[in-house]
Amino acid sequence: MQICKTIPALRQLLDGYRKEGKSIGLVPTMGALHSGHISLIEKANSANDLTVCSIYVNPTQFNNQDDFEMYPQTLEKDCEMLKPAGCDVVFAPSHNEMYPDGFHENLIQLNFGGIAEELEGKFRPGHFNGVGIVVTKLFNIVNPDKAYFGQKDLQQFLIISKLVKDFSFGIDLVCCAIVREEDGLAMSSRNSRLSQEERNEASLLFKVLSEAKEKLIFGEDVSVVGNEARQQIASNQFFKLEYFEIVDIKSLKPIHKINNLEDIALCVSAHLGKARLIDNMLVKTSKVGVN
Ligand code: PAF
Repeated sequence: MQICKTIPALRQLLDGYRKEGKSIGLVPTMGALHSGHISLIEKANSANDLTVCSIYVNPTQFNNQDDFEMYPQTLEKDCEMLKPAGCDVVFAPSHNEMYPDGFHENLIQLNFGGIAEELEGKFRPGHFNGVGIVVTKLFNIVNPDKAYFGQKDLQQFLIISKLVKDFSFGIDLVCCAIVREEDGLAMSSRNSRLSQEERNEASLLFKVLSEAKEKLIFGEDVSVVGNEARQQIASNQFFKLEYFEIVDIKSLKPIHKINNLEDIALCVSAHLGKARLIDNMLVKTSKVGVN
């Protein structure tokens, strides 16, 4: 496994592989890897000749400075996990490499339309602009055939799908299923911020999502199901609920009536101690092409 820290070094390496006709799969990450990331690497490895993992904690997507500063940086440990999973190349650039002109001012502004204004967009201003910028940079630097993202960041996946379409990137996006702990908690690098007491409570989000999904399948009223779910989370003293929404999978706008169960996603975000947790569940998985 090779580690490249600069764009020219990575380009030179990948050009060599491309000349040999090898296909490239990219797994963009911010490091602090867990089994969820490793499942993306394995998926990329099984479908491409070469798997590239980028590790870069992108400052422009953090709307909260404390969250950025607390973000774990564990490059050595990450590399130890990546090698046996079949990763061939790690791209771990510095801030200067990614943003040579700095990242505080004069950032390009992307407009993703209404989809970026729902859910996370209401609580993390500027977040998707930063994601869009860094993913565009990574796509231009690596020029992969396929790129792999987790369904846990469902809205991010839909926004990157729009980015690929609007900028005509010739890249196939693969959305990979959420990997969960035994009790259902969705794996996340931010879970390490939970105290033991908070960790014991953390699976509530999965429980609430699963129950709400069942109720929708049984035909219960959408607003009743949504309100019960919100109530369950809000009444737990450890959680501070941001949103629980039952949304249309394409627009991410809240729905009030179900026409087709395949069109629906349940999305939640809540603070638990020092961690902000997000999770989601599709009622049927076919629409975003989750693998
Ligand atoms: O999902 C993430 O880890 C990040 O948002 C991404 C896609 C690597 C961009 O920094």
